[in-house]
Amino acid sequence: MRLIDDIICRLTREGGRIYDGEAVNQLEHALQCAALARRESAPDALVVAALLHDYGHVLSDGGNTTGRRIAPRHEDVAARHLAAVFPAAVTEPIRLHVAAKRYLCTIDPDYRDALTPASRASLKAQGGPFDEDGVHIFKRSRFWGDAVRLRQWDDMAKVAGLRTPGLATYRGAMVALAERVAAVA
Ligand SMILES: [Fe+2]
Repeated sequence: MRLIDDIICRLTREGGRIYDGEAVNQLEHALQCAALARRESAPDALVVAALLHDYGHVLSDGGNTTGRRIAPRHEDVAARHLAAVFPAAVTEPIRLHVAAKRYLCTIDPDYRDALTPASRASLKAQGGPFDEDGVHIFKRSRFWGDAVRLRQWDDMAKVAGLRTPGLATYRGAMVALAERVAAVA
């Protein structure tokens, strides 16, 4: 399926960039995140969400050569772009994964303390921890629980030099999910 191959090509081509001061590049981060989701037997939609949760950075980084760049509202950029291909079970956890970080920082000070320096810096730009209303609104989202799971894998998926299955491992799941969307369009 061409749309899926376009995504895989783009991730392969653009994913070598540094992930904003972390120990891994974007592609390594994506593959580690998806591998963690698979290891916990997450459904395919959530595995694909884990793989593509930072696709907004990849989309926005085209042409950039500095190696350090964070797309504004990258979660919205990715969710909007991928909604043409994948169901809400993929795009909603992606859209909510920054909100999930803000939520976890609110309810769990240990989580907040364990964030990497880069993630702590971006938290500030992302609005900081939620207030009570923010928590309430977040938990009204249908996919908030999936977003929290994704976020926890996201935070762990920053291990330099870790070997993981490659992108091709996920192509079948991506195609099956996209075909389901195409069938009802
Ligand atoms: Fe991430």
